[in-house]
Order: sequence, then C-alpha cells, then structure tokens
Amino acid sequence: MSKDHQLATLGVRAGQARSEFNEHSEALYLTSSFVFESARQAAGRFTGGEDGFVYSRFTNPTVSMMQDRLAALEGAEACIATSSGMSSILAMSMALLKSGDHVICSNSVFGSTVQLYGGILARFGVETTFVSPTDTAQWQRALRPSTKLLFVETPSNPLMQVSDIAALAAVAKAAGALLAVDNAFCTPALQRPLSLGADLVIHSATKYLDGQGRVLGGAVLGSKALLMEHVFPFMRTAGPSLSPFNAWVILKGMETLELRMLAQSERALALARWLESRPQVARVFHPGLPSHPQHELAARQQRAGGAVVSFEVKGGREAAWRVIDATQLISITGNLGDVKSTITHPASTTHGRLTPEARAAAGITEGLIRVSVGLESEADLQRDLSRGLE
Ligand SMILES: Cc1ncc(COP(=O)(O)O)c(C=O)c1O
Repeated sequence: MSKDHQLATLGVRAGQARSEFNEHSEALYLTSSFVFESARQAAGRFTGGEDGFVYSRFTNPTVSMMQDRLAALEGAEACIATSSGMSSILAMSMALLKSGDHVICSNSVFGSTVQLYGGILARFGVETTFVSPTDTAQWQRALRPSTKLLFVETPSNPLMQVSDIAALAAVAKAAGALLAVDNAFCTPALQRPLSLGADLVIHSATKYLDGQGRVLGGAVLGSKALLMEHVFPFMRTAGPSLSPFNAWVILKGMETLELRMLAQSERALALARWLESRPQVARVFHPGLPSHPQHELAARQQRAGGAVVSFEVKGGREAAWRVIDATQLISITGNLGDVKSTITHPASTTHGRLTPEARAAAGITEGLIRVSVGLESEADLQRDLSRGLE
C-alpha cells in the first residue's frame, strides 16, 4: 500500500497478504507451528537467518496482517500484537525498562495501569511518579536523570481529560526519555500520536479496534528499532501473544473503524449535550463540549471527541447506581468501545482496586457514571438514561 492512501482505504486494504489460493477476504491461519522443508531451513528460520513463519508465539500470518494494518493506520514503522491491552503495556515496559529506571505516568489512566506501574513494576525496582495529565509543568518537574518513560492515556479513562501530546513529546525528547501514548479511546481514526511526536503507541484492541466486544487484544507500535530490537525479543521469549483467531477478528474490525468512530463520537456528543441540560447532572465530561477544560486542545489534536461520555449525578453512589439499575437497553458491563452502549460505575468497578486517595487524586467520585456510546439511536439512549434521572 502507498503512504498516500487515505485512512478509509488503509482500514480495509492495508496488510493483506494473499495465499496461493488468492482468497479475497483475509485468511485465518489457525495453527500453532509451521512446517519446514528441511533441517537446514528449520535452523535458518529459528536463528532468524531466513525469513518465514516458525511458531505462533511470535510469528503467524494472520497476526502479521493485523499488525501491518494497524501500523499503516497509526503511521508506524512497526507493530507487535499482544494478548490484551494490559499485556501490551507490560511487554513495552519489560522490554524497555530495567531496575533503577524511573517512569512518569498520568494519574488518570486505566486502574490496572496504575496497579502495574505503582505495584507490580515497583517490586522489580522501577519507580513511578504519577502526575496530572493536563499539567505539562508537573511532568517537567518530575523528571530525574533516571527517567526513561513518560506514559499517558488521552483522552483518559473515564474523565476524558486531554493531554497535550506534542508538549509531552518535547519534554520527553529533551530529557532523553520515551513518550508512550495509550490511544485506546481515540484509535488512529481520530488521533495519531506518532505524528505529534510520541515514540510509542499502546492499544487495547479489545475496545474500538475490534469494536463489537468479542475478543481481547493489544498492540505496541513505534519505530522498527524500538519494536524489533526490544519488544519483539521479549514477546518471543515471554509469550503474551495474540491468538490468530483474535487477530482475525480485530483485522476485520478495523475495516469499519473509521465509520464507527465518527458515528459513535457524534452520538456521544449529542448525548453529552443532552446530559448537560439535565438538572440531576452536576457535570458532564466530553472533549466535544465547549465546557470541557481542554476543548480547544482536543479540537486541535483529535478529529472528534470520542465515544465515551462520563457524567456525575447529584446524590453520590446511591443516585449513580439508581441511574445504572434503571437502564433497560444500555448494558451494565465493564467493557467499552462496543457498538452496543455500555454503562459502568468506575468508583466501584474499573477503579475499585485503587486506594480512596488514589481514586480521589484521579477525580473518580462516587456519583460518576461512564457511558460508552454505541450505535443505537440517540433518542433510545436518552430515554434509557432518563428513567433513573427522574
Ligand atoms: C485506556 C485503556 N487502556 C488499557 C486497557 C486494558 O486493556 P485490556 O482490557 O485489553 O487488557 C483498558 C481497558 O479498559 C483501557 O480502557
């Protein structure tokens, strides 16, 4: 595919590698290993002296097609797929960090990401400082000579705070550190962090890349040097690999990515505007609203506001649970990024394992509700949320 092709074209065409049968749709290679013609060929493939597929922990044609399509969408030189979004953050960190290194991480990231940096990696001697995603000066102040990685999620989960990717990339570059951006909420259909100066992009493909809530998956993207020299050897050895079946589902999901992201973002903004007009709602968080603190930055950095709307109801946990329990259409489930709208209470679910202090620092209040807006009609979604708000 040429670099001149537009996103819509890349989404349906990039990465396809046809077999000898010339199939039109991408094939699913459901095999754990590949057969060699001779012992010599086996030796060549194992040592990397000869190109070709070996074993699906680290090479599989369906996974390769998925990686190549996502790399084309993100404008990345290389992509390595992983079994989930969390394993992509783990693989990147294990590949690029060592004991004694320092990480600066946004304090408004997915709960498991906080646990990974603040808990698990801390046990292996990697220290993390958590800072505000919207105050670049805090990132600058947190720098140490040992800082190796800056990690941000923008827009953030669930408050939709928007970080200035270009400004954070400049901070990282001046310090000789790397900037990684979790692009799960926007996907390349709405935001391309590498073009803004980021070094690495992380995906939970479980979300919008699949788009229909079927499989788990993840990916790390960036330069060939970072990915093939560091992340690939970790993946090959440690094995948090994406299954070919999940790769195939995600590959097909990417074919409708741009259409879904634009349509779902439009519905989310309409719902956010309506929620802002409800007297029982104290605050609405969506980057497309002029009331959003980073509205202008989001308009510059993103093609649309994204499909998640969070809002705080008056009356704390009891009022929030009443709204959630009164829904009949929207699914009460932890996932997001599906064409079916979903609703959650972050304080008691996705962010429930955080300490009350960490939750408060991240702005996750008891009255907060997160809705991932799907493709149902706006009127039906409003009616469903109205019940518990009356
Ligand atoms: C922004 C973000 N990053 C990473 C993850 C983790 O992804 P996964 O559940 O695929 O491991 C999530 C999950 O909700 C997420 O919302």
